[in-house]
Amino acid sequence: MTEIWSEADIANAAAHLKKGDVVAFPTETVYGLGAVATNEEAVRKIFQAKGRPSDNPLIIHVSSREQVADYVQTIPEKARQVMDHFWPGPCTIILEKKGPLALSVTGGLSTVGVRMPNHPIALKLIEAVGLPLAAPSANSSGKPSPTSAEHVKRDLDGKITGIIDGGLTGVGLESTVLDLTDPKNPMILRPGGVSQEELEKVIGKVGVDTHLSNPEAAPKSPGMKYRHYSPEKPVWILPSSIEESQAILSELEAKGEKVGIIASEDNKDDWDTPARLYFSIGQKSNPDQAASLLYQAMRELDDSDVTIILAEAYEEKGIGTAYMNRLGKAAEKRI
Ligand code: TXA
Ligand code: MG
Repeated sequence: MTEIWSEADIANAAAHLKKGDVVAFPTETVYGLGAVATNEEAVRKIFQAKGRPSDNPLIIHVSSREQVADYVQTIPEKARQVMDHFWPGPCTIILEKKGPLALSVTGGLSTVGVRMPNHPIALKLIEAVGLPLAAPSANSSGKPSPTSAEHVKRDLDGKITGIIDGGLTGVGLESTVLDLTDPKNPMILRPGGVSQEELEKVIGKVGVDTHLSNPEAAPKSPGMKYRHYSPEKPVWILPSSIEESQAILSELEAKGEKVGIIASEDNKDDWDTPARLYFSIGQKSNPDQAASLLYQAMRELDDSDVTIILAEAYEEKGIGTAYMNRLGKAAEKRI
């Protein structure tokens, strides 16, 4: 049985982590599944619980800037600037690793991803442990990341020691992964809560891994090669034209499909019928809200009796880039 804890149980959760258990905790992006990053046996338990391929490295979570220096070779100026502006927050920085990290954290790579989460429970927990926590998202491998303790329980009950329930997460999609191993050529490997536009204001030109625009190209981030973030039911991305979308919905229903729709409140009057399941992800003008609700919407429709999930596209700028990236990974078809 996996225990459910509250913020009041942080000391207890920290004690479990120190003796090598794995514990799920909330961050501002999604729930993480933590183990002490220097404990090889504990870190292996993360891979086991998630069913995660061992060549997919984990990021380490710190509660202070001072901790970082123990685990990376150097902190380039641009990394300092990113930390100044975006930490604590949803930006993971990849740097050359050093020090006593468990080998399985980095899956054989010479680099490590580091981030300071912007969540009081996560920060207090890491501080109480006194060492960085290696933590991937706390879902079963391949499922959408968890944005509530309930999602974690659904995937990992009985496989982990405990879950600290901190309510719903805020950003709702995983952090931006920024490779700064070559500071002359900063590169986004995974879009997330901090956008390319925001990063460029602070450190100048930032590239984007070609895999993100061309899925045929090999990704630089091992995790991006897996089909991911994905419900079991088929997911299609709707075209931007309301009329075309309406035609596709009717066509599917004529074939006997039970349609689930993930879309903005703006289209609800036109698209929501008694035969359908409509999950509103907020006003179209609010892509942050859409991002924060996307995984919850996917999970709820996946658990319902719908046979196909259709989701609205958002403009690929700011957080909309991360929303479309995750939706694209879940979708088998873009109409
Ligand atoms: O928001 C987040 O980042 C959440 C919360 C819990 O912090 N964590 C998360 O972890 O999403 P995970 O393991 O699900 O995703 C980490 C991503 C993977 O795509 C992994 O391949 C990549 O970061 N990554 C980790 N270390 C890397 C490295 N040294 N080089 C390149 N990519 C790396
Ligand atoms: Mg993940």
